[in-house]
Amino acid sequence: MSRPLPSSSGEIDIDANRRLLNRYRYILHEGLRIQAGWLPAVARFELKCELGRAIWEDTQHVNALYLRLREIQSPAFQKPADAALVRLMQELLHAPGEYALAVACWRVVKPALHAALVAHETATFPNSDLPSVHAIAHIVYDESRQLARMTPLLAQWESEGRLGPEVAGWETYVRALLQDAGGITGDEPRGATPAVAPSVRQPFAAPVEAARDERFTDLGSVGRVAVPPAESDYEEHTIFEFERYSSEMLAAETVALVMYHHFANMPWEFLYDASRHLYDEVRHCLMGYEWMRRHGTNPFETPQCLNIFKWRAQFRPVEQYCLLTMGNEVNAFPYRHRRVEEHSARGNRLSEQFVRYDIADETQHVRFGNRWLPELIKAVGEPRSLEQFTADMMEIWHREYKSGRLSLQVE
Ligand SMILES: [Fe+2]
Ligand SMILES: [Fe+2]
Repeated sequence: MSRPLPSSSGEIDIDANRRLLNRYRYILHEGLRIQAGWLPAVARFELKCELGRAIWEDTQHVNALYLRLREIQSPAFQKPADAALVRLMQELLHAPGEYALAVACWRVVKPALHAALVAHETATFPNSDLPSVHAIAHIVYDESRQLARMTPLLAQWESEGRLGPEVAGWETYVRALLQDAGGITGDEPRGATPAVAPSVRQPFAAPVEAARDERFTDLGSVGRVAVPPAESDYEEHTIFEFERYSSEMLAAETVALVMYHHFANMPWEFLYDASRHLYDEVRHCLMGYEWMRRHGTNPFETPQCLNIFKWRAQFRPVEQYCLLTMGNEVNAFPYRHRRVEEHSARGNRLSEQFVRYDIADETQHVRFGNRWLPELIKAVGEPRSLEQFTADMMEIWHREYKSGRLSLQVE
């Protein structure tokens, strides 16, 4: 007599696994578009920086899930069949303000996603599905740290009275949308009737101006920026140099806008590179902050030169990307190398180290530009050759940016 084979003890089966991993991937992937679209419009500095970091971290998470999904389904990227989940991720974009966006993300969707991932990590077959377990464990690690950074910020903003009634209304709506989708997994009880959009819902429009919070006292380009100290005046010029780093958020904001506009018609690898580019510029900005604080100055008082973002935003995204990578970034190297030599000769280790790390990042940004400009040109059906297009854009860059009142190096 044969003994019955022991049955599975309820682990997630491979088809359910595929569906679930795709849902997590979709939520994080669509989240990138929302966060990139919002980044320039967010004024609160801490939230803007966190969005930049979350965009880069979540890109790693989407990529980890993509690498696993392509082993178990084809094509790897699939729009979920669940219309309610699609609706949730479409609606998040239309938050009535940056705090409503932050609450929807880090008080509703991300905690639920984190809980679903934690459960999934131990509910799947531990050996057979180890590649998923590995990806999920690393995503859980990052997402829990994101939540740990955002939770006290949200509490602080709440205590400061920044989370108004429209935030509460939006949070209720997003919770209802998540319930309509059966939660992150789609397996929880769904709402009886679809959530109705509240009156506070604000149809999203891509930003054409960059926002700063009330701590920034100079939004233009006056004073020190109007007449940069000569490089021969080492002390003064070095202060200027790191003040300029502190305004590199402008470059992050331009890359964010390009990402947002080209989310659907460029390969995943473009978004992967652009998210790194974007976050590098946030880090360069923070490098300026760190340098200034170590030298006893207040970075919030530096001119923000918001006219630079506004100027670039008049152009098509492909043109903005060309102006940034082939104008500002390609042309910054001789100056940066001179600065490394100067800092090194004077034993200014902090400044030398900061600029050398910056050069490493900027080298990648130029590489990204060379890799993706030809693809962007194709994506928009640009009739000019790459060479002609770039030459025309550089003519504009030299005429309108490099000369006259926009003659600034902020990338
Ligand atoms: Fe850059
Ligand atoms: Fe930079």
